[in-house]
Parts: sequence; structure tokens; C-alpha cells
Amino acid sequence: MTSRDETVQLHETYLSKHKLPLFKQFGWDVVEGKREGVFFWDLDGKRYFDCHVCGGVYNLGHRNPKVVKAVRDALDHVDLGNHHLMSSERSRLAKKLVESAGETSSGERMGRVVFASGGGEAMDFAFKMAKGYTGKSTILCLEGGYHGHTGLSMGAGDEKYTDAWNYKPEGFVKVSLEDLDRIETFFDEDTAAVSLETIPATLGMNVIPRKTMQHIRKVTREHGVLLILDEIQTGCGRSGRTWAFQHYDIMPDIFATGKGFSGGIYPIAATVYRDEMEQVYEQNPMIHFSTFGGSEIGCAAAETVLDHATDPDFLAHVNALSDFFRNAVEELAERSNKVAGLRQIGMFQAIEFVDVATCISAVARLNENGVFCVFSNNDRVCAQFMPPLIMTMEEAEELMALVEKSISEADAVDLTSSEFFSTQTEARIRNVNRRL
Ligand SMILES: Cc1ncc(COP(=O)(O)O)c(C=O)c1O
Repeated sequence: MTSRDETVQLHETYLSKHKLPLFKQFGWDVVEGKREGVFFWDLDGKRYFDCHVCGGVYNLGHRNPKVVKAVRDALDHVDLGNHHLMSSERSRLAKKLVESAGETSSGERMGRVVFASGGGEAMDFAFKMAKGYTGKSTILCLEGGYHGHTGLSMGAGDEKYTDAWNYKPEGFVKVSLEDLDRIETFFDEDTAAVSLETIPATLGMNVIPRKTMQHIRKVTREHGVLLILDEIQTGCGRSGRTWAFQHYDIMPDIFATGKGFSGGIYPIAATVYRDEMEQVYEQNPMIHFSTFGGSEIGCAAAETVLDHATDPDFLAHVNALSDFFRNAVEELAERSNKVAGLRQIGMFQAIEFVDVATCISAVARLNENGVFCVFSNNDRVCAQFMPPLIMTMEEAEELMALVEKSISEADAVDLTSSEFFSTQTEARIRNVNRRL
């Protein structure tokens, strides 16, 4: 294996020169070595609890044996498949995915699937579908939200990413979290859809209240506006339900999955939409392709993921972990003058600190103490805290002890000396302290 020093040198020469100094500030200058279950190790053998899980990719832990076996078995029989031909693997997975969305109390269901190779591509398709189906041009989305760095998905996200590339996809109108309760006042004859992460991750995992989400669903339907939900981080069991929108008893018109859908072993993503939207293909069924989207190896991984994410025992375990961390962090918040509380649905959670400087220091101490996590980049008062869902209760207790130790060691840092913080707009939103 290439040594750490060689890797750092190769990275600086052939990959990114500018990321490393930034990574060093937060203790993220780690070269990953061995990985297994809830842990990974750096090349010097330091062990980390993975509480970033690449935004949900490692929901089932690293190298989950069932996912590895499914992919190994698939490799014995199939390859990526040909995206022009029909596929047993893709067809079976599409059925499972549609069924996993279930049915609302008023009988609404999802209908069909288009596969992609990554989350940005799946969201691009969601936007294409919304515009194509409605014949309208505008998507309302959340200021400070994140849907990927591909084409349209970049337009739906934070402007610092599009501005840097001198690229501005048209037709994305941003609203704030506070605007969601009166989203209908932003509708006009061009509005195709409202698009949200079911729980906005980069924006600090602020939970959208049930009443607000149901209001959005009601008025979008009344005005013939589609509702797109990005479940790329929140889905696949992370929230304690298969899909986070199921907490709200609503059915979107379109939703996207990615990240954890891959089982952390083989990339795959998908856009799921209501049956009637299929009419966009009527004139020309050949208007959308993705060569690697829904590859048959990826289907094997994703089928195993859905088996977990729809298993009541697995979801009960996620909810038991969620109860444990809620109690532990709330108790810590009472004792500590650094922690404000936990933002949480299931195991989709972020520890909120009393201020940004304390949060940044805590993230650095956590990484030093072997708990890999990051702050929410558009609400830097909170650290995303996403342990793998297969974590045992014993591991959860060990992790929580490290969290307490790290927070006790955290001191508010002087951010004015950091180039990163001085050159970024502080996008922290007012903490609206939302609960389901
Ligand atoms: C909510 C959300 N949507 C979309 C994406 C984009 O996914 P990908 O990086 O696979 O394109 C991400 C990635 O971080 C995400 O967090």
C-alpha cells in the first residue's frame, strides 16, 4: 500500500492542492486504510468511529457482509448490463423501490423509477421530469439547500457553488425555511415544483415541522405544483422509517435516493415518480438514458439495502439508537454550557452547539479523539452526527463517552484567523428550533 506521506504528495500534485490546508484545520487530513462495520482506520492504525458515513453511504456500516456477498454473487453472473435492454435486476429493484414508499392514509402511491449512477444525476432527472411533465419552468427550492454538483442540481443549491463556476442554471427560485409556511405566495403560472431535502442536511438538519410539510403538500396539490423530495441523505432507513417523508404521512410526486442506496459498495441512485408522469415519454421514449444508471451490480447492492430499510426489526433498532442518543445528548446539554441540544429524526441527527466557534472546536476535538464528523456547512453551529445504523448499543455507549470527552475539551476558537471562515459567507440561519 502507498504510505501516508506518498499519498499526501500524490494528492497535492495530482488531485487537489487547496483542500489539504483546510482539511488540516479540522483534523480531516486522514488517509483511509482498513474499514469495517462502524469504524475506519487511518494508515497509522488510528481508529475512527465513522459519524459522517459520507452522508449516509455507510448507513449499513463499512463493507457490510450482506452487501458484499450480494455484490460478489452478482459478479459471478452479471456485469453492468446494457442500458438499452431490459433487465431482471433493474425491474425487480424498481418494483421493490416503488413498494417501499408504501401508501398514505389517503391511498397515494409512487409509480415508476429511473435509475442513475449518483445523487446529483438523480436530482437532475427529478427537475427534468418536473419541467417536462408540467411544461412549466420554475422550481422553488431552499436557500442553502444541497442537491449535488451536477447540472440542474447545482442550480437548486447554494449560489456560492454556481458563482464559482460562472454558471447559473435558470429557473431556480430560492425561498427560506421560514417561507415554507407560506410557500403558495411564491407560486405563479411558471411554477413547476417545490423541491426540498426532506430534512435539509447542509442547512443544519433543521426538522421541517409536520404541519409545515403537510401544508406544502396541500397547497402544491391545490395549485397543480409538483412536490420533489430529495431523500439522498434522509432515506434508506436513516430516519427510523424507510423514507423520511413517511413521518409526515405525505407522498411526494417525485423523490430521489442515492448514497446509502449503494450499500457503500457499488454506486447507484434512483428517481421515483408517480405513474401518470410516464406520459412525457409518449412522443419519444428515447429521451433519457444513463449508461451506468441502475447497473446490475449496483442493483444487487441496493436490493440488499432495501431489504434492511424495510425490515421492521432493523427500523426498531434504528429507533432504539435514536432514543439512546436523544437522551444522552439532552442530558449532556443540561450539564454543559457548550451544547444546545440535538436536532433529530431517527438517526438523522446533528449536535447543536451554543455558537459556531464552539462547534468548530468540538468537531476538531472529536476528530482528534477518533470520532470522524463534520459541521453542517450552511449552519455551522451544528455538527452532523450520523453513526452507522448497524451500531450496537455497546458501541453507542463507547461513542457517547468519546463525544462527552471531546466536548469537554472544546474551547471556542478564534475564527477570524481562519482563511476558510473569513472568505466564506456565514450562511448560518436563525435557529428556528423546529420539531416534527
Ligand atoms: C441531499 C443531497 N442530495 C444530493 C446529493 C448529491 O449526491 P452525489 O454526490 O451522489 O451526486 C448529496 C450529496 O452530498 C446530498 O447530500
